[in-house]
Amino acid sequence: MSRQVYIETYGCQMNELDSELVQGQLEALGYGFTTKADEADVVLLNTCSVREHSEHKVWSYLGRLGHAKRDEGREVVVGVLGCMAEREASNIFTRMPHVDLVCGPSMLDKLPSLLENVVQSKSRQSALTGHTARRSATLDAAMDGIEAMDLSRAFSPYANDRESGHVRRQAYVRITRGCNKFCSFCVVPYTRGPEVHRPAQHIIDEVKRLVEAGVLEVTLIGQTINHYQHEGTSFARLLYRIHEEVPDLARLRFVTSYPRDFTDEALDVMAACDRIGKYLHVPAQSGSDRMLKIMNRGYTLAEYTDLLDRARARMPNIRLAGDMIVGFPTETDADHDLSLRLIERARYKGCYIFKYSPRPGTVSSRRFEDDVPDAVKRERNQSMLELQNRICLAHNQSLVGQVLDVIVEGESKLRRESAPIDGVVVGWAKKDTTRLIGRTEGDEIVAFDGPRSLLGTLTKVRAMSATAVTILGEHVGERQQKADHRASPPQVDGP
Ligand code: SAH
Ligand code: F3S
Repeated sequence: MSRQVYIETYGCQMNELDSELVQGQLEALGYGFTTKADEADVVLLNTCSVREHSEHKVWSYLGRLGHAKRDEGREVVVGVLGCMAEREASNIFTRMPHVDLVCGPSMLDKLPSLLENVVQSKSRQSALTGHTARRSATLDAAMDGIEAMDLSRAFSPYANDRESGHVRRQAYVRITRGCNKFCSFCVVPYTRGPEVHRPAQHIIDEVKRLVEAGVLEVTLIGQTINHYQHEGTSFARLLYRIHEEVPDLARLRFVTSYPRDFTDEALDVMAACDRIGKYLHVPAQSGSDRMLKIMNRGYTLAEYTDLLDRARARMPNIRLAGDMIVGFPTETDADHDLSLRLIERARYKGCYIFKYSPRPGTVSSRRFEDDVPDAVKRERNQSMLELQNRICLAHNQSLVGQVLDVIVEGESKLRRESAPIDGVVVGWAKKDTTRLIGRTEGDEIVAFDGPRSLLGTLTKVRAMSATAVTILGEHVGERQQKADHRASPPQVDGP
């Protein structure tokens, strides 16, 4: 029987995509994949280093695997992939001698040979790049090993598992790797290396093949995605080309945008192309110019809000999302208030809020003491979350009555018996239906009752009520929507 691999993925979309590519690559070589970690012959952890907490989870998982190997005699190959492998390689081998291989995110194309070597030679293997210093030159991604891995992506018909209630019709496509920004708090430029842009034609071909395999929605990914530039193709041009050259792609999205260098041209393309999602994830990190400066973000609050204004002027319905860090060194209550004011002004559809976590090797960890006490960080985190939740609720409620385009992603775990979502009971699904969950182009989560045949389709749902997290709706389908038929409220045929 083939060797069975279990892969656990931490962190960002980039890691999710990397794990998918690793799986495709290993499957092509005859490895099997299992979802049962305990039964696997190979356990791979695709790791994240962005916050200390992310690394903690990996250390403790590695500790458990060490116990199983050492004390229970389990035979398993253990591999650490991703950002933590790049950052902590020698530490990992010292602290966790049962780890067999480490492989940095820019070296994943080497993984199959590392695995083979571990088995053949019974020795530890590592593949790291050691990105340490700033490199300004944009490398040519045309044909390095990692580009070959993106190109060799498996295009099997997309997981269409109606039985498990999860149907995937979305895919990530990388357009840039790495980051040149060196925000003072961030490890990514050290772990993922300098910014590298993929050739436009490679990207477009990949999107085409995904769509042929059944994908409805593609999310382009990159750390500072609007910096994309390859042989005269700008980000705006790339978006436009994908939209025009892949007409069967139902929805095109992208993350994450960097607040500087977002051109009007790119906003115009978004506004003009109806299948490009009106969604912009553009992290601010802080609303205080003093903080932005020592974070080395490279823009002011005014420049940031100018981008939001330019986006809203062209697309009044655009959904904006952000990231915020609370408790960055020297942050005062007044700085925090400026961040809260920015959140009010931005009216984010969603905002990820992080407590500052000093990362070894970064400028902020060297230059500043982590001087905001954890209790204060927690308080600021809480006050920001509460504000953002109020905005989310108001935003979702403002959509009530509208008909939304929803890609149906899965079945709610809360089946018709219980059916409360966020504590709100909206009745029970009819017998031949189930509770479905999907997403809008603006990344809103929509729950509604409908037949399972809707899984993996793009359909229309009327928003009926909303919580801060979920919009509850009714399926209206295509025809009713045209006649603007307002369906009757959910029928209760429960107990
Ligand atoms: N441009 C990237 C950012 C990667 S890190 C992307 O989103 O793809 C994601 C978020 O983590 C950042 O926007 C920032 O808000 C947060 N973050 C990064 N380093 C951090 C640190 N040291 N402490 C707390 N939050 C951090
Ligand atoms: Fe990190 Fe700043 Fe780049 S947050 S990924 S260094 S844009």
